[in-house]
Amino acid sequence: GPTVGIDLGTTNSGVAYVDEAGKCISIPLSQDKCVFPSTITVDKRSKWTVGAHQPGQQPKSARIAFLTKRVLGRKSNDGRLRSDLEGLPFELYTTGDLYIDGESLVDKGPDELVYPEELAGLTLMEAKRVAEEHLNKRIKKCVIAIPAYFTHDQRQATRDAARIAGLEIVRLVNEPSAAAIAYAHKSPLRDGMYLVCDIGGGTFDVSLLRLENQSTKAFVVKATGGDNCLGGEDFTRVLMDLLYEKTGFSKDDSDAARKARAAAEQFKQRLSRDDEVEGDVADVEVTVTKAEFLEKSAPVFERIKKVIVGTLRERRKFIREQEARAEGKNVEKVFECVLPVGGASFTPGYLDAVRAAAGGDVLPPQDVSLLVAQGAAYVAAGRAVLTDVTSRGLGIKLHDGSMELLIAKNAALPAPSPVKEFQPAEDFLEATKIELLQGENTERAEDNILLGEFDIGHPKRPSDEVRIMAQAIASVDESISVAAWLEDGGKKESLTVTAVPRFDDRELDRHRAKNLTRFNTRSSKRPREGDSS
Ligand SMILES: Nc1ncnc2c1ncn2[C@@H]1O[C@H](COP(=O)(O)OP(=O)(O)OP(=O)(O)O)[C@@H](O)[C@H]1O
Ligand SMILES: [Mg+2]
Repeated sequence: GPTVGIDLGTTNSGVAYVDEAGKCISIPLSQDKCVFPSTITVDKRSKWTVGAHQPGQQPKSARIAFLTKRVLGRKSNDGRLRSDLEGLPFELYTTGDLYIDGESLVDKGPDELVYPEELAGLTLMEAKRVAEEHLNKRIKKCVIAIPAYFTHDQRQATRDAARIAGLEIVRLVNEPSAAAIAYAHKSPLRDGMYLVCDIGGGTFDVSLLRLENQSTKAFVVKATGGDNCLGGEDFTRVLMDLLYEKTGFSKDDSDAARKARAAAEQFKQRLSRDDEVEGDVADVEVTVTKAEFLEKSAPVFERIKKVIVGTLRERRKFIREQEARAEGKNVEKVFECVLPVGGASFTPGYLDAVRAAAGGDVLPPQDVSLLVAQGAAYVAAGRAVLTDVTSRGLGIKLHDGSMELLIAKNAALPAPSPVKEFQPAEDFLEATKIELLQGENTERAEDNILLGEFDIGHPKRPSDEVRIMAQAIASVDESISVAAWLEDGGKKESLTVTAVPRFDDRELDRHRAKNLTRFNTRSSKRPREGDSS
C-alpha cells in the first residue's frame, strides 16, 4: 500500500494519502468525517476503543485517556510538565484512574502500567486500520506530523509509538510545514514568508515559515510560538458559561454539565454559520446570538492576539534584515499572508482577531482540520522537499546555573557549533561536568531538558589556568553530540545522544503484543457519534 500521512493530533487524528493520479485524499471515517478523536476509552469489561468518544462524552462507567500527546515523550524531571498539566482547561484523566506517575501513565484499575507511547501507539493502530480498510491494502509506512517545538525525546516517543503500532516512520514532518505544503498544493503560493496559525482543540501554534521554492514546495520553519492551553476548548467553555447563565443550571450538577458541554459544542459550530442559534439544553429552550458570543470571548481573542504579536516581534527585526539583504524588497512586509489551520479556525471572530494581530491578509480557510495529514501525505509521496532544522536550542550548563547556547533553534542541519571555551568553576578541581541541554532558556539551565552529561578530567590547577573547549554537533539523523577537550591537548571526551530510547526492542515488542490484544477486543463496528450519551 501507499505511504500514508498521519496527523496525530492532541484532540483529533486523521490519515491521508496521495493516489496514483497525484490527488490527495483524506480517508473518510464515517458519513462525512475524516478525523477521529485522539482518545482511548476503556469500558468496564476492559474493552479498549480508540477514537469513539470526545472527552466527557464516554459512558459513565468507562474510563477515558485523552490529551496523551501532551505527556508523550515528556519526563518527570521536565520542569514545565507540571505547570503544563495544571493549566489544562479540564482534568487530564477525567476519572482519576489514569494519572502520571514519574514517567509512566499508571492505570490503577487492572494493576497495569500504561505508557503514553502505548496510548499513542493505539491511536496510530486505529489510523493504520482505517487506511487499510479504506484502501483494502496493507499499510506499513507512514509520515507523521509533529509540532515544530517537539524535543528530541518527544520525537523518539513518537517513533516508539509507531513501532508499537506496527508502522515504520519514513519521516517526521513539522505540523506547520505539513499544513503549508497542503496549502501550496491547493493554491499557488509565491516564494516568501507565511504565518501559519493552527488553532486546534486545546493548542494554538503559530509558526513563521519561508517557502524557499514554489515548485518543489520547500518550506523552512523560521520561528515558532504558541500556547498549549488555548484552543477550541476555550470557546466551548465560553458557551457553556453562557448556557449556565441562561438556563440557571448549576455547574456542579455533573449531568447538567455533560449536557451543557454537548450543547455548547453544537451551538459553537452552528454559530460559525448563523448569527443566532436556538436549541435546548436538558429541555430548556435557549437562544444565543453571535454578538453575545463575541463579547464573552473577548479575553480568549486577546490571548490569541498576544501569541501572534509575540511570535512576530521575535523575528521582525531579523526578517527585515534578511529580506532587505536577500531580495531588496519592501522590508516592512514581514510575511505574504496567514495560512489558517485547525478545526477551530471557523469560530466566529477568530479570523478577524488573527488579521488584526498579524496585520496581514488571511488566506480563505480550506479543509482546516485535514491540512496537516494531507501535507504529511504529500511528503510521503515525495511531493515536497523539506529542509530540516534543529527543533530546539542546544547548549551546556555553566557553573552559575545558566546555559551557554551552542546551537540556536531552527539552525539548518547538520549544525556544528562554534568551539566555546570555558573554565572550571573553582580552583584545583580535577574534573568538570559537562551537561548537554536542549532548550532556549539561557538564564536558567534547569528549565531546559538534560540530554546527557559526562566529566572531563583536567589537571588540578587554578581555574584560570585550565581551558576547556566544547563543541556540539546536531546531525541530520537527529543525533546530537557534544565533545569537550583541553586546550593544551588533553584527552577528548565526548558524548553522543542518539535519541535515547526508553524501551529496548524486546519491550517495544511486548507493548505491541499487549496493544494487539487490546485492539482486537474492540468492536468491529465504530460506534456512531452520540451512541454513548
Ligand atoms: N465549525 C466549527 N466552528 C468552531 N469550532 C469548531 C468547528 N469545527 C470544529 N471546531 C473545533 O475545533 C477543535 C478541534 O480542532 P482540530 O481537529 O484541528 O484539533 P487537533 O488538531 O486535534 O488539536 P490540537 O491542534 O490541539 O492538536 C475543537 O475544539 C472543535 O470544537
Ligand atoms: Mg492539530
